[in-house]
Amino acid sequence: MHDLSDIAHWLQSHSIHHESGVHATLPDPSFISGGRKFISFSTNNYLALANHPRLVGAAKQGLDRYGVGNCESRLLGGDLEVYRELEARLGALKHKSDAVLFVTGYMTNIGVLSSLVKASMLARLYGYRAKIRRKYVYYSDEFNHVSIRDGIQMSGAPRQNYRHCDMNHLESLLKAADGTTPIIVSDGVFSMEGTIAPLPDLVALAERFGAILYIDDAHATGILGENGGGTSEHFNCYSPNIIQMGTLSKALGAIGGFVAVDREMADVIRLTSAAYGFTCPPPPDQASALIAALDLLEEEPQRRQRLWDNQRYFIERMRPLGYQILSTETAIVPVLIGEAELCLQYARALREEGIHVDSVQFPAAPLGQARLRFMMNAGHTRAQIDQVVDIMERIGVTAAHPA
Ligand SMILES: Cc1ncc(COP(=O)(O)O)c(C=O)c1O
Repeated sequence: MHDLSDIAHWLQSHSIHHESGVHATLPDPSFISGGRKFISFSTNNYLALANHPRLVGAAKQGLDRYGVGNCESRLLGGDLEVYRELEARLGALKHKSDAVLFVTGYMTNIGVLSSLVKASMLARLYGYRAKIRRKYVYYSDEFNHVSIRDGIQMSGAPRQNYRHCDMNHLESLLKAADGTTPIIVSDGVFSMEGTIAPLPDLVALAERFGAILYIDDAHATGILGENGGGTSEHFNCYSPNIIQMGTLSKALGAIGGFVAVDREMADVIRLTSAAYGFTCPPPPDQASALIAALDLLEEEPQRRQRLWDNQRYFIERMRPLGYQILSTETAIVPVLIGEAELCLQYARALREEGIHVDSVQFPAAPLGQARLRFMMNAGHTRAQIDQVVDIMERIGVTAAHPA
């Protein structure tokens, strides 16, 4: 017997379900839900590209040219020119000679992290014989995305967690390693914290300890750096040791994930990652739309500028209200509320006034550190930001002095 129906009843009776509702239109950042207009302060559509006419037009052309899907692994006849073009563009964005495309960011992390440590064993199938047998160990920031944790678990390799962005802790773990090859994995921008990984320090440690460094730039691609190149561009810090992972479902507005790497590494990943070879890539119309998104990233730097202007304006207006803002470095600006129930009350109060903000609580955030995850957007107007800050001021007063 299984206990899934028990679990379902328990969840229902404890009102544990997601509260963000069903939307009739895409947040750009305004959207319609239940016949009412809302403004989203929690959408990944950071640059408001997802329904941009250029992306929609390119997707339509892709549909006309290729149809709705490719129905095939790229290793087995499903390879289309449009994927190669997209990979070349993504590689260039990340200063690498190639990129490998996957169907989502989640699948990218699972597919690459689970197979990296088995590459030698898998290459044996093609006749490769390793000179030495390496043992890999993953070193993972405690706040890394769940897809990273799942990918590492699937690899079967040991994992050591280091405290969030704590380079001394990471160094002490690396020093204690004996004869193993480290793979250090970190989000570039942490999705629930809004912090940026200290990339130059990570690169220095990777070089010193002969490690591979894997950076998940899901929330940095298209956003950080002068050209939207991500964490490396932000710090002007590049290294052949870095595997640059990114998603295509956030700032770039469509769906997909990728790793940007040098060509030899790309070949290894294409041959050894089942998530590449044993399933399909994103549909070709998405790839066409993404090429248009990359064009816009180059042609309209003012979009990114507007996002940063909005981010600064929001923080400047929020500061005097006395909330604890957990970080101010990225487009993700989490405001600490504390107990999960109180945070949900805040989110509901905002929703009543037509604002959508995610309440993020355990297990996505540490217990007792529930937060409102404000995500700033290039499409927000000053009036919309003023509106949300005014509401936060009002409900903050009510929470501090309940009637
Ligand atoms: C840090 C991070 N990595 C990976 C992913 C997965 O990306 P995707 O939504 O494209 O599957 C996410 C998405 O939430 C993320 O925040």
